[in-house]
Amino acid sequence: MSPVNRGAAASSEFQGENMEPTSAGLTEETQAVPAAHSVALTKTYGVGQAAVHALAGITVTFDRGRFTAVMGPSGSGKSTLMHCMAGLDRPTSGQTFVGDLDIGSLDDAGLTRLRRDRIGFVFQSFNLVPTLTAAENITLPVALAGRKVDQEWFGYLVKELGIGDRLTHRPNEMSGGQQQRVACARALINKPAIVLADEPTGNLDSKNSVIVLDMLRHSNRELGQTVLMITHNPEAASYGDRMIHMRDGEMVAPEKDPQWTGAKR
Ligand SMILES: Nc1ncnc2c1ncn2[C@@H]1O[C@H](COP(=O)(O)OP(=O)(O)OP(=O)(O)O)[C@@H](O)[C@H]1O
Ligand SMILES: [Mg+2]
Repeated sequence: MSPVNRGAAASSEFQGENMEPTSAGLTEETQAVPAAHSVALTKTYGVGQAAVHALAGITVTFDRGRFTAVMGPSGSGKSTLMHCMAGLDRPTSGQTFVGDLDIGSLDDAGLTRLRRDRIGFVFQSFNLVPTLTAAENITLPVALAGRKVDQEWFGYLVKELGIGDRLTHRPNEMSGGQQQRVACARALINKPAIVLADEPTGNLDSKNSVIVLDMLRHSNRELGQTVLMITHNPEAASYGDRMIHMRDGEMVAPEKDPQWTGAKR
């Protein structure tokens, strides 16, 4: 099978034990349901004087097959939004949906299945397992799902991301950039329907940034995956076909984002 398996992500999106349709006429409606969306999403950390409103009521839709870049200053709530969309963090109020599945309705086992089967996440801080080698880290989602590794796809990811000579190394034996590329391969190994990447080029030089960005674009265009990518870099953001800007926990117009310099694609 070619590593470029168009439609694989989309067709797997409504599989799994928790993926019961919630509306009638699913076949036609499925196409109309966005990949993910949030409704009046808030997240407050702490209480009283110390409360931080990381998300102040975000209603946003991520259509299937789009590549959205999320920009905004440090502390504006980008990671919090992404964690809530991926079911990694529970919102204070509001709802998040993956397809037509209300993430808030899931118990821990359901959340685990959702993250395992439909979502690939590149963490800002990598979150590699320190005791595992690069190869073991990359294939961990496959192992957890009890599946067999698609060796052709594994080889493709490793080659394209330039980490073939680091596969037997543990995270503390790799540079930050190498760890980030391993984290990227791990997020893509299961060909998830949605890829969320939190500053995937934050630790990379320009050459390796292009490698990772090309890989995300490939995932989006060839596999039909929905991609959400946080970045501080307008050039990286220009890989997306849509940009959203955040400030103080809200979505704002581009001109209200101090980082936005108006780079064109
Ligand atoms: N676990 C937490 N406890 C308390 N406050 C938190 C926590 N996580 C995030 N925050 C606060 O929420 C706000 C939004 O944080 P978030 O990490 O979403 O920002 P960000 O836009 O991703 O920033 P950066 O660009 O620096 O990664 C910040 O003020 C942050 O300090
Ligand atoms: Mg962040």
